[in-house]
This record gives sequence, structure tokens and C-alpha cells, in this order.
Amino acid sequence: MKEAVAKLFETAGRALSESLGDPKALERVRVRFLGRKGELGQLFKELANVAEQERREAGRVLNEAKVRLEALFSEALEKKRELEALRSQAIDVSVPGRRPPAGRLHPITQTATEICRIFNWLGFETVEGPEIELDYYNFEALNIPKDHPARDMQDTFYISDDVVLRTHTSPLQVRTMEKRKPPVRIIAPGRTYRRDSDVTHTPMFHQVEGLMVGEGISFGDLKGILTTFVHQMFGKTVALRFRPSFFPFTEPSAEVDIACVMCRGKGCRVCKSTGWLEILGSGMVDPAVYKHVDYDPEKITGFAFGMGIERIAMLIFGIDDLRLFFENDLRFLQQF
Ligand code: FA5
Ligand code: MG
Repeated sequence: MKEAVAKLFETAGRALSESLGDPKALERVRVRFLGRKGELGQLFKELANVAEQERREAGRVLNEAKVRLEALFSEALEKKRELEALRSQAIDVSVPGRRPPAGRLHPITQTATEICRIFNWLGFETVEGPEIELDYYNFEALNIPKDHPARDMQDTFYISDDVVLRTHTSPLQVRTMEKRKPPVRIIAPGRTYRRDSDVTHTPMFHQVEGLMVGEGISFGDLKGILTTFVHQMFGKTVALRFRPSFFPFTEPSAEVDIACVMCRGKGCRVCKSTGWLEILGSGMVDPAVYKHVDYDPEKITGFAFGMGIERIAMLIFGIDDLRLFFENDLRFLQQF
């Protein structure tokens, strides 16, 4: 019996170590040795054939074997669980990392930054002003009389009788000249608001104002600076033209058009078949404005301009609906 038990342990030990990695095999081995019809059970049955005087001792050996075998299996089971736990927590250090999505600058911000960079390079200093503006700075001091159509409720968001959401960045002309003595050379980027909405107009949009005043500044300087800007922004081969226009705060006034960058002047949907695109309004500062800031119109001359940033961004990135800039669709924004 002792020999049979020793042999049993030998085969059980081997079977156990072979089945360690495989939970189903381990269960099979357990049934094979400890199950009701298992190998140990067979040995118990054989007890009946053992001689009477040896039976007691054989029984003791078998009972002891049963306890040891059970311990062996629970140990193996424990080891198996540990292995499984290790395996489920295993980290594959060769898997490529997940990158957090990277943000980028909005195309309007990119365009504004580039516009400012060019003017800074031309010696213009960047300044900023409030979006909620006094009627005085938005209209009155810019020689926009009370009955001017630009003051109509349809264009302007009024906060109170004398406070508005600025409809352009031109108030920065007055705010700057109030604070500084000539010569002045500034640009002022920022948000502006009008009651407008279609493919080329949104209720909130951006402008960059420019102002250069001092002694002896002429319309030639205006043309030179704006031509240099257009060449820097769109390349030297793009045609541009100065078209007579009207603004209450400049005299004479001109709007600048560039040859449509979509169709190169042939005429398309974006330029409404004209071949030209308006990018800014400009002119020589009207003497009436100088009076509000205590500049001497006999000595001081200068020019101002205001351009729509969205309009420039549309041209640079080839976008034909301005509203796309403000829908914040990531599929759109991720292209820039
Ligand atoms: C002005 O706002 C003048 N202050 C410009 C100026 C400044 C003239 C200094 C002379 C001296 P205007 O209303 O044309 O002008 O607007 C200028 C530009 O802003 C337009 O050419 C257009 O590109 C843009 N713009 C106007 N309204 C909207 C809108 N609702 N949505 C998007 N862009 C607009
Ligand atoms: Mg205009």
C-alpha cells in the first residue's frame, strides 16, 4: 500500500505541474485523483483486500495521503489564481502611447496674428480697446452724426442709449489719439458686432484697425503701407486696386480690393463674378476727428484703415462660407 501511495504521489505531482497553466486541465487532474471514482478512491476500495492485521496501518497511510493530496491541489489552485492575476494585470510596454489631442490656434486667431506681425514689422504698435463701447467713441467722435444710417437699430446692438457693442474697431483711433501725442502708429485687432447674418456676414466678427498720423503723412503713405501689407499677406503677384469710397471719419476714402484669389480675377461665386474682393476700408483721417482729440488739423495729417479678419482668412484658407469659422465643428477646425 505504501508503494502504491508513493507512486500515486509521483504521478499526481507530474500531472499537476503539467496542468498548472491551464485551469481546465487542473480540474481534470483533480477529478482523476481525488474524484469519487478517482485513483485514491480505488486504493480505499482495495483496503478490503488487505490482510486484517495490516489494514489499520494501510488505512492510516491512505487517510494521510488524502490530506496531503488535498493540500497539494489547493496549493496548485492558489498558484493558478496568482498566475491569472499577474497575467490580467500585465502591461505591454511596447504598445504605442495614446496622445492627448493637441489644441491649435483658431484660423481667425492665426490670421489676426499674421496681420499684426506684418504691421508690427512696419513699425505699428498693437493696442486693444473695449468691446462694450460708448456711443461717443463708436460714432460721435468719428464724425458719425445722429442721423447717420450706421446708427440705425438694424446695424447696432444697443446696450443703453449711449452704450453699444462696438460696430467696428475705429473707436481705437479716438481712444489712442486722446492718450498720445503725434506721431502715432498703431494697429488694433478685436471683436466687433453688427446685426447681420448671411454667407459673408456674422453678428460677431473681427476687424483690425490701423492708424498712422503725424506731420506730412500723405495718401501716398497710405497706398505704400497697404500695398506692402497685401504683398506680404497674399504674395507679390496679387493685383490690388484702390476704389473711391465714403466714410464719415475719413476724407478722401478708399476701399482696397484684391484680385480674387479663388479664380485669379476670372470671376466666381466667392467674388460674385466681379473678379475683385473687398478687404478693407481706409482713408485720410477727417479733420473733424482731430478736433475731438485736440490735434491741430493744420499741422497733423494721417490715414486710417479697417479690415475684416474673417474676409482675409477666407481668402488665405480658401473658405467660401464665413459662418464655418464660428460653428466650432472640430472636423473643420482640425484642418488648420
Ligand atoms: C468699417 O467698419 C470702417 N470702420 C473701416 C474703416 C476704418 C474705414 C478706418 C476708414 C478708416 P465697413 O463697414 O466697410 O467699414 O467694414 C470693414 C470690413 O469689415 C468689411 O470690409 C468686411 O470685411 C468686414 N465686415 C463688415 N461687416 C461684417 C460682418 N457682419 N461679418 C463679417 N465681416 C464684416
Ligand atoms: Mg465696406
